[in-house]
Amino acid sequence: MACHTINQGRLVGPDLVNIQNRRSQKWIASFIKSSQSLIKSGDSDAVDVFKKFNKMVMPDNDFTDSQIVNIIQYIAANSSEQLKKTTKVQPDQPVSEKSIRSGQMLFNGRKRFTNGGASCISCHNIDRADVIAGGSLAKDLTNVYSRMGAAGVKAIIDNAPFPTMAKAYDGKPLSDYEIFDLAAFLQSVDGGSKNGPLYGARLFFSGLAGAIVLFALFAIVRTRSKKNSVNHEIYERQIKSTWEDNNE
Ligand code: HEC
Repeated sequence: MACHTINQGRLVGPDLVNIQNRRSQKWIASFIKSSQSLIKSGDSDAVDVFKKFNKMVMPDNDFTDSQIVNIIQYIAANSSEQLKKTTKVQPDQPVSEKSIRSGQMLFNGRKRFTNGGASCISCHNIDRADVIAGGSLAKDLTNVYSRMGAAGVKAIIDNAPFPTMAKAYDGKPLSDYEIFDLAAFLQSVDGGSKNGPLYGARLFFSGLAGAIVLFALFAIVRTRSKKNSVNHEIYERQIKSTWEDNNE
């Protein structure tokens, strides 16, 4: 469910509507058990699907043949259903700067998840200057948005098909708002280490502030040294000694 729909359009992987009519049961079973083995064997249908879906690796499953038959029957039964159910997953929407900021804070753990799940940065990295380097346990997510789109990213965050990640959020589901903001953030970082206008402006203003502090320091040191100027002391001494000489 995190990666496929039945008659609801593509997510991370293809829509499986009427798959029972499009492929043989044997083919479906091999693909479900180990899609990579089928692809490596040179099966042209499998290679096509792999290419069409950005070479995303579908994890292997150790289902029995009868379990696979059950799954195919389930898909077939739901394919004939004309009524399209409304899904939780929404299409791309314009996102606000606020959503992006909130998503970034959730990602790097500066804001806690309502249900206490681990921050994404403990396992994932994002290649951007204003995000501290993250974990390397799991994939770098810098370009995940263009690979999967909004619906795919949201579906994975909502219901991860990866055991490690699923375990981290087991019993600690993210709220719809949190998922939306995280997807907005991932959309904003898509494309990689661009430093962004925000970063440039910040650098400029911190440089300016530093310069002002330095000039202020110089000014203070200069007025001080003027007050007790060396020349001034010598001048005074000279005057004094001249006066003393003249009066002896
Ligand atoms: C406990 C570690 C862990 C945490 C925490 C975690 N993930 Fe993952 N995530 C994984 C693993 C493992 C994968 C499987 C892909 C891989 O091996 O890198 C994955 C895969 C993904 C993918 C698919 C990547 C791809 O290109 O295939 C996305 C998107 C993702 N995670 C988003 C998130 C977000 C957003 C968060 C924070 C809410 C998060 N993850 C938290 C471990 C984690």
